[in-house]
Amino acid sequence: MMFSRIAGTGGFVPGAPVTNQDLVDRGIDTSDEWVSERTGIRCRHLVSDGMSTSQLAIEAARRALESAGLKAADLDMVIVATTTPDMVFPSTACLVQGALGMPVGAAAFDLQAVCSGFVYALTVADKFIRSGSHRRVLVIGAETLSRILDWTDRGTCVLFGDGAGAVILEADETPGILATAMHADGSQAGILSVSGQVSGGNLIGCPFIRMDGQAVFKYAVRVLSEVAQEVLDQAVLPLVQLDWLIPHQANIRIMQATAKKLGVLPERVVVTVDRHGNTSAASVPLALDVAVRDGRIKRGQTVLVEGVGGGFTWGAALLRY
Ligand code: ACO
Repeated sequence: MMFSRIAGTGGFVPGAPVTNQDLVDRGIDTSDEWVSERTGIRCRHLVSDGMSTSQLAIEAARRALESAGLKAADLDMVIVATTTPDMVFPSTACLVQGALGMPVGAAAFDLQAVCSGFVYALTVADKFIRSGSHRRVLVIGAETLSRILDWTDRGTCVLFGDGAGAVILEADETPGILATAMHADGSQAGILSVSGQVSGGNLIGCPFIRMDGQAVFKYAVRVLSEVAQEVLDQAVLPLVQLDWLIPHQANIRIMQATAKKLGVLPERVVVTVDRHGNTSAASVPLALDVAVRDGRIKRGQTVLVEGVGGGFTWGAALLRY
C-alpha cells in the first residue's frame, strides 16, 4: 500500500511588510486599532507592479525543493492553487513547470477553490500518489490578491495580502497524509466573490472582491470545526493526540472561535495572519512553512490543516509531518 508524505516546505512573501498604519498613510480610511482588533492583522506583503503570481510560486517551490533535498527534475506533477493566475491561459502551473525546469511531460494544472485551494490541491495530489500513478508532486498555493482588491472599499482591502507557500508531496510506505475531506456549497456563491470576466475584449462585471463579512464569518466557523472533526474521525485520532491546528489564516477571531468549538488549546494553533494578512490559497502552506522552519512542527507530529473560502468551499487534511 502506498501513502504520501510531505518531504519539504517553502514559502515566499514579496517586499517589506506593509503595516496597518502604512495603509492609513496611503489614504485608506481605517486605523491600526480597527484592523488589529477585528481581524488580528498587523501587516501584510504586497507585490510591486509587474510582479506575478508565478514568480511568487516559483520562489516558494525552490525553497520547498531545497528543504526536501530534491531537484525539479525529480518531480512528476505540479498543481498550483490560485485565484489570481498570471493570465487566462496557460495555467500558472505550466509557467512554474517551465521556469523550474521540471521534466517535459510532467503534468501541470491550476486548481481553483479560492481560500480552500491549497487543501483541495493537497487532497488531489494525495489521491494521485496513493493511486500509484505519480511519485512526487509539487503542491503550491500562490496569490497576488492585491490585484483584485478595491482600495476604496475599506471593508475588504485591509484584509488581504500576497504570497506563496509550497510543499513537495512524496510517495512513502509510511502514512503522512492520514485523512482528507473536500466540500462545497454553491448556493452560497454570492457571499464572497469576484464576479467579473473578460469577454469580447472587455471586462464584464466587477473585477474586485465583494464580501458579506458577517455571513462569511458565521459560515467559516461552522464548517471549519465540522470538517476538522470529520478528518479526525476518519483517521480515528483523538483530539488529545493532535499536535497542531493550522486553519486558513483569514481572521484571528474565526480561528479562535473554531479552535474553541473543537476544544483545541490556543497555543496549539499556528497563527500567521498577524504578519501575512489573508493570502487566500497561500495562507495554509505559508503558515505550515513558518511553523516548520521555526521548529514548532517536528517530524512525527500530527498537523491538521484546513481551508475555507469563496464558492463556498472548505476542506481539511490531517497529516503526520
Ligand atoms: N476601518 C475602519 N472601519 C471600518 C473598516 C475599516 N477597515 N471596515 C469597516 N468599517 C466600519 C464599517 O463602515 C462599519 O461602520 P458603521 O457601524 O459606522 O456603519 C463598522 O466598521 C462595522 O462594520 P462591519 O462590516 O459590520 O464590521 P464587522 O464587525 O462585521 O467586521 C470583518 C468586519 C472584520 C470583515 C468581519 O465581518 C469578518 O471578519 N468577517 C469575516 C470575513 C473574512 O475574514 N473574510 C476574509 C475572506 S473570506 C475567507 O478567507 C474565508
